[in-house]
Amino acid sequence: MAVTRLVLTDFRNHRDAVLAPGAGFVVLTGENGAGKTNVLEALSLLAPGRGLRRAPLSEMVRQGATGGFGVAAMLGDVEIGTGTQPDAPERRLVRINGAGAAAAALAEWVTMLWLTPAMDRLFVEGPGERRRFLDRLTLALAPGHAHHSTRYEAAMRQRNRLLADEAPADPEWLSALEARMVEHGSAIDTARRDTVTALAERLTAQPEGVFARAGLAIEGWEGEAQTLARELREGRRRDAAAGRTLAGPHRADLLVTHLSKNQPAHLCSTGEQKALLLGLVLAHAELVADRMGRAPILLLDEVAAHLDPGRRAALFERLAGNGQVWMTGTEPALFDAVSGSATRYCVAHGIVEPRPTATR
Ligand SMILES: Nc1ncnc2c1ncn2[C@@H]1O[C@H](COP(=O)(O)OP(=O)(O)OP(=O)(O)O)[C@@H](O)[C@H]1O
Ligand SMILES: [Mg+2]
Repeated sequence: MAVTRLVLTDFRNHRDAVLAPGAGFVVLTGENGAGKTNVLEALSLLAPGRGLRRAPLSEMVRQGATGGFGVAAMLGDVEIGTGTQPDAPERRLVRINGAGAAAAALAEWVTMLWLTPAMDRLFVEGPGERRRFLDRLTLALAPGHAHHSTRYEAAMRQRNRLLADEAPADPEWLSALEARMVEHGSAIDTARRDTVTALAERLTAQPEGVFARAGLAIEGWEGEAQTLARELREGRRRDAAAGRTLAGPHRADLLVTHLSKNQPAHLCSTGEQKALLLGLVLAHAELVADRMGRAPILLLDEVAAHLDPGRRAALFERLAGNGQVWMTGTEPALFDAVSGSATRYCVAHGIVEPRPTATR
C-alpha cells in the first residue's frame, strides 16, 4: 500500500501542493517551519481520527483562504479525498472512490501509523495518548475497530447526557444504550488484547537489536462483557455524580516495559524510551505486513535527527522494502544512507518540489 499521488489544497501553509511519490522511502527536507510536518499531518487524515496533531479541523485551513481545505490521494487505484467546507468548518468530509463515506471506513483502505516528536512523552504522560496509540496499533490489524470505537463513544455520550438530565432517566433507554456499549466495548477490548498479545509475542521472540524490545500489557480495564454490563447498570448513580462513565474499555491504558532492563518505560531514559517506541513501531509494521499482507504506511516525523548514525542506518535497513515510509528532517545529509530509489522532496515556504539529483 502506498500513496502514489497527494494533492493538498489550502492545507495549513500549503496552497496547492502536488506530490507523486514512489512506493518506498519518501524523504521531505527543509528548514524549520517549511511545511514538512504539515504534509505528514495531511497524510494522517487519510486514516480515521483527528490526524497526528489532533488539531481542530478549522485550524488546518490555510490562513487567508476563503474556503475549506482539501487533501486528495491516490493509493494504487483507490481514490480518497477528505476536507472541510466553509459552512461546516469542524465537519470532516470523506469520499472514497467518489462516494461519501464515514471517516471510520478509511480504515478498510488505509493502514497508517506515525511517530512524532510529541510522542517522546508518550510513556510519561497520562493514559489518553497511550490508549490512542494502542488503538492505532489495533486498527491496523482490525479495521472494524474504528467503527466499534465510534459506536461505543456515541452510546457513552448519550448515556452520560441522560444521566446528567434533571429528570430521572428512562431505565429502558439507559439499558439499551448500555447494551450497545457492551457490544462495541467487548469488540474494542478483544481487538486490543489480540493486538497486544501478537505484538508482545513477536517482540519477545526477537533478538535484542539496536531498538529496545518492549513488554506490553493492558491495564485499567478487566475486559469481560458481563463485568461491563454490571458496572454500567450498577454504576448509574456513581456515573451521574461524576458526570462521566467511570469504568469501561475507554479507561484502558497500555503498559510498556523495557524487556531486557525489566524496567517500566516511564522510568527509562529519554533515549531508551525512543528506542522502545521505535522497536514497537517496527515490530508492529512487520506484524501487519505478515498478517494483513500489506505493510502499513509509516509517517516518521523527525525520527532520523535523534538517532546516531549507526542506529539511523539500522532503521533505514530494517524499513527498506517494507512499505511506504515518509520521513522528515531539516538536513538532506541525514538521509544519505537511504537507498537510491527514495523519492526526495525539498519543502520551502509551503512549496514542495522534487529534490534535484545533483543536490542529494
Ligand atoms: N492554518 C495555517 N495556515 C498557514 N500556515 C500555517 C497554518 N498552520 C500552521 N501554519 C504554518 O505552517 C508552517 C510550517 O509548519 P510545519 O510544522 O509543517 O513545519 P516543519 O517544516 O515541520 O518545521 P520543523 O522543522 O520546525 O518541524 C509553520 O510556520 C506554521 O506556523
Ligand atoms: Mg516539523
